[in-house]
Amino acid sequence: MRLYSLLIISTLVVLGIADGDDDNKNYNVTNRPFPKGFKFGVATAAYQIEGAWNIDGKGPQMWDDFFHETPSRAFDGSNGDIAVDSYHLYKEDIRCMEEVGVDYYRLSLSWARILPDGTTDNINQLGVDYYIKVFEALEAKGIKTMVTIYHWDLPSALHSKGGWLNPDIINWFADYAELCYKLFGKYADSWITINEPKQICHGGYGIGAYAPGIVSNGIKDYICAKNVLLAHAKAWRIWDEKYRKVYGAKNTLVIDSDWYEPSTNSKEDAIASDTKLQFVHGMYGNPVVNGNWPDVMIKNVADLSRKQGFNESRLPAFTEEEQKLLKGRIQPIMLTLKITSCIIAGTYDFFALNHYTTYMVKARTQEILTVSWDDDSKVDIYQKSEDIWKPAAIDWFRIVPWGFGKLLRWMRKTYGNIEIVITENGVSDKTGILKDQTRIDFLRNYMSHMLDAIHEADVNVTAYTLWTIMDNFEWTLGYIGKSGLYYVNRTDPALPRIPKDSAKYYSKIIKTKCLIDDCLNE
Ligand SMILES: *[C@@H]1O[C@H](CO)[C@@H](O)[C@H](O)[C@H]1NC(C)=O
Ligand SMILES: *[C@@H]1O[C@H](CO)[C@@H](O)[C@H](O)[C@H]1NC(C)=O
Ligand SMILES: *[C@@H]1O[C@H](CO)[C@@H](O)[C@H](O)[C@H]1NC(C)=O
Ligand SMILES: *[C@@H]1O[C@H](CO)[C@@H](O)[C@H](O)[C@H]1NC(C)=O
Repeated sequence: MRLYSLLIISTLVVLGIADGDDDNKNYNVTNRPFPKGFKFGVATAAYQIEGAWNIDGKGPQMWDDFFHETPSRAFDGSNGDIAVDSYHLYKEDIRCMEEVGVDYYRLSLSWARILPDGTTDNINQLGVDYYIKVFEALEAKGIKTMVTIYHWDLPSALHSKGGWLNPDIINWFADYAELCYKLFGKYADSWITINEPKQICHGGYGIGAYAPGIVSNGIKDYICAKNVLLAHAKAWRIWDEKYRKVYGAKNTLVIDSDWYEPSTNSKEDAIASDTKLQFVHGMYGNPVVNGNWPDVMIKNVADLSRKQGFNESRLPAFTEEEQKLLKGRIQPIMLTLKITSCIIAGTYDFFALNHYTTYMVKARTQEILTVSWDDDSKVDIYQKSEDIWKPAAIDWFRIVPWGFGKLLRWMRKTYGNIEIVITENGVSDKTGILKDQTRIDFLRNYMSHMLDAIHEADVNVTAYTLWTIMDNFEWTLGYIGKSGLYYVNRTDPALPRIPKDSAKYYSKIIKTKCLIDDCLNE
């Protein structure tokens, strides 16, 4: 999960019972059950839970440096040195998962724990052993795994060589990913190459709110995006060509996207909504499906770059060879029992979506020539006032359940009938309150809109991953943003995990496959 927004953190609001959303007042939670075979999981990320930042041979990674150098980058001056100590307490985490009854656990691997200097020249066996222990403990409880290879924690040694701005990272990452396939292939039930490229690139190299804190909006974030996409594509193809037939698991990239609701029903605002979605989801979705940036991005960035006096577009082009790499394998298809043609399959096995909130969007009437990714979309975005949409732990996080359903329908329309797995969804508060009715309402309403999209619009969502199993280190929000089904008591050195009401609610949904007390039979 990502919760930056340093500027507005002073407006933190304590959660109450969600009550203010006019659009949701008359909304009846669906009485239809989840489809047969639908799976439920919980997600975490290495830096947010493991701690043990310098233990047993782990190397430093750029988020360690980011907070050690400037502690105030975290709202509470904290860092992930200890986090919730899952390096030692992973069995506790797994006990919680067993209690809730999840089908699978989405976790991430720490690159610098496995490869302290980032390269495969120097493998840290103790780091490898840690993950094998976690996988074996999960296997013993019958909990499947979804393994994220990269969730933002770039080894410092690679950051000092340019990190995501250096095209060599395509090979650094591919080597690391291949090592993960070899070491953990027999434990991973599905793979995620990279989590949330928008946050890595725009957060880390555009606005600089995230590690490594580089500010170059509309320039370096695009260079990062190109390298992230090619690193993903190369790692995905190594899986596809060499390891898929051995282990069988699916592999993909996680893309995070908000929903952008047109502010009026004018044609211009409908187009503005689609354009913004292309700059957010399409920027990463279109390359892995079709091998290139969305057309509207290519057109807008070229146009504004020219007007801004650049000699070429700030959006780096993909060469023909790079486009082929992104488009993935050529797959023979059988028609009437005869191989008759080939399709290009893209570098994904399913779409993985992280979703939290919704913005309003309207077409711009006046051109703005500021150099930034935000302005390249040529639209304005805003959120409605608090009395309409209830804010959660931080200001931008409005609870807008119907936005989730609309985003899923947009993906179905834009990309066709592709399997979708929700890899993150959830809500943070700053209390960690055990009677967390707001979280229950959030889950019930967001999942209801997801189910409506499944049943009414033929959107093929096959699994839902809740962020997160227990309160943990929430990046720049420190320990203040609490999103867990379990509260972690940080004043007790044992860091006990204590179930909130939402843990029982999620557990019940998993058992009954139903969001309310009694569902229709299907
Ligand atoms: C919700 O259910 C109530 C009672 O069954 C019904 O009167 C109302 O019209 C429903 N609202 C919507 C938006 O379907
Ligand atoms: C554009 O300018 C940059 C330096 O600002 C230079 O490196 C690059 O080669 C130029 N490109 C073209 C196509 O002239
Ligand atoms: C959804 O995707 C899965 C995995 O590709 C597939 O097995 C299933 O048939 C699809 N369901 C629908 C309704 O398209
Ligand atoms: C947290 O731990 C402290 C120290 O053990 C204890 O005094 C306190 O009651 C605990 N709080 C909760 C909510 O369990």
